Amino acid sequence: MADSAAATAGPSACLTETDFYRDVIQGLRKTPRSIPPKHFYDKEGSRLFEAICEQPEYYPTRTEMLLLERHASEIAGLTEPGCFLIEPGSGNCRKARLLLDTLLPDTYIPIDISREHLQTAADNLATANPWLSVHPICADITDTLELPFIPEEKQRLLFYPGSSIGNFEPDDARVFLANLARIAGDGGALLIGVDLQKDTQQLHAAYNDASGVTAAFNLNLLRRINRELDADLDIDAFDHLAFYNARKNRIEMHLVCNHRQTFHVDGHHFELDAGEHIHTENSYKYTLVQFQELAMAAGFSTRRVWTDADILFSLHYLEVC
Ligand code: AVI
Repeated sequence: MADSAAATAGPSACLTETDFYRDVIQGLRKTPRSIPPKHFYDKEGSRLFEAICEQPEYYPTRTEMLLLERHASEIAGLTEPGCFLIEPGSGNCRKARLLLDTLLPDTYIPIDISREHLQTAADNLATANPWLSVHPICADITDTLELPFIPEEKQRLLFYPGSSIGNFEPDDARVFLANLARIAGDGGALLIGVDLQKDTQQLHAAYNDASGVTAAFNLNLLRRINRELDADLDIDAFDHLAFYNARKNRIEMHLVCNHRQTFHVDGHHFELDAGEHIHTENSYKYTLVQFQELAMAAGFSTRRVWTDADILFSLHYLEVC
């Protein structure tokens, strides 16, 4: 079992005080309409995301796992023995597992917004690695986070795989990385996975898988709104849309309303015209140099970068400078 039940960032709020409620009401009132991608990840959304990672078209997961397996010893060689391994947005903790036996950290701290998912993943990981201290924290990783219980002399290695950094706007990515640098502190480091710019067709396929799992993941956001926010959206009236915006170097995901509808969210009235979009996600793709510049602006220097033979994906070992 993990050391303790997942610690929480704050008391549970009533519905209208939740980020989800606020972001949905405000986002549906905006022009263009948008809802932040962090709200994809309820229980069903987390399940669908794991299924996306198994799709043959979605190359990032398997490519990054290959890089982690291949370079675990070298990563361990850059890190101090007995470090504290901290993973913001840890999900199922699957990628950290690839490092544990080689890295031999003192403690693993998975941090995730989805409490149930976090606790299960942390318990499973602790059972499989009885020598490891596991300390899960339930928190929104974009909030300010303090980890005062880590002894000062211990090195902090932050682990942020999966190219989730691509889901931030570049300015927000810099602020987020600067926050990670602050958490890592003097002598700390960040191991981060970053998806790279590539052929548009390959990117398009990765976000439009033939089995329709990404479409179901996108549409689940509307189902979640109906389930949790007392809403009456007609889900069948929406289509999944994902395309590469080459000017902005990002995949964009939208939900497109295919016929005019009125709906309510907790009593608030909305109207959508046929053809109107709700923008649900951006996934920025970087060049190696662009990402290194971003990391430098956030207070990191690059110690080592690994890529696969086809240069689809990259893994960066960054040190706080
Ligand atoms: C979590 N994140 C890095 C994924 C991505 O590729 O941007 C989320 C995702 N959206 C659709 N497919 C995967």
